[in-house]
Amino acid sequence: MTEQTILLDVHGLAKSVPGPRRLFQSLNLQVAAGELVAIIGESGVGKSTLLNILAGLDEADEGSVAIGGTVLGSLTETARTRLRRERIGFVFQAFHILPYLTLLQNVALPLALTFPDGSAANARAAEMLAAVGLADRGEGYARDLSGGELQRVAIARALVHRPALILADEPTGNLDPETATRVLALFANAVRENGAAGVMVTHSDASAAIADRVLTLRAEGLVERRGR
Ligand SMILES: Nc1ncnc2c1ncn2[C@@H]1O[C@H](COP(=O)(O)OP(=O)(O)OP(=O)(O)O)[C@@H](O)[C@H]1O
Ligand SMILES: [Mg+2]
Repeated sequence: MTEQTILLDVHGLAKSVPGPRRLFQSLNLQVAAGELVAIIGESGVGKSTLLNILAGLDEADEGSVAIGGTVLGSLTETARTRLRRERIGFVFQAFHILPYLTLLQNVALPLALTFPDGSAANARAAEMLAAVGLADRGEGYARDLSGGELQRVAIARALVHRPALILADEPTGNLDPETATRVLALFANAVRENGAAGVMVTHSDASAAIADRVLTLRAEGLVERRGR
């Protein structure tokens, strides 16, 4: 990994939740540009919590997270929010598709925050909706969609601004196998073609198989899964 650019660099992360319960400690993770890492682990082990910390949405008790060389903990709240908007794409375990916006507006949202040109943003959003197989649904609303369709909208929105770091929490959890395969390919392509760093939490072997590395989250941190 010496020649590659490390886009995500995590050192010595520790996190406890009220209880008091320590979820993990001494957690290290480096993800290079164009690399997709899958994280697996038992329910409740702290996978979603870890992704939230990587996105700057939650704080670790110890350790550091650097994205493209910028340490999240060194930023003001405003600067951290800005970095998240511009450089991170997040597919949440619950989709967070806003019900009062059309689907096209939802997908265009990360662009609307930084690009004043609405028509260019809409064109790019429409391109992403088409890429997830929802070309003709842009004017619809979240209530019109199935869980799997909503997940695809969430993926389109996470990738629309070509983020440097792409985080996904069970991105294919609600999809049938065929759609899951298509969405995973889209996801992996987005990481590799954009030279982004991808971190995907998954329970599925098919999802893990598309990743460059599979890591298991345990109380002592992330460990390489063996026997692939
Ligand atoms: N704010 C909080 N207060 C108390 N406990 C919390 C808090 N946030 C998370 N937890 C606990 O921390 C643990 C880890 O939660 P997390 O959602 O990260 O797990 P997960 O690995 O993503 O699980 P799953 O596979 O079911 O999605 C859980 O036991 C959860 O109840
Ligand atoms: Mg979770």
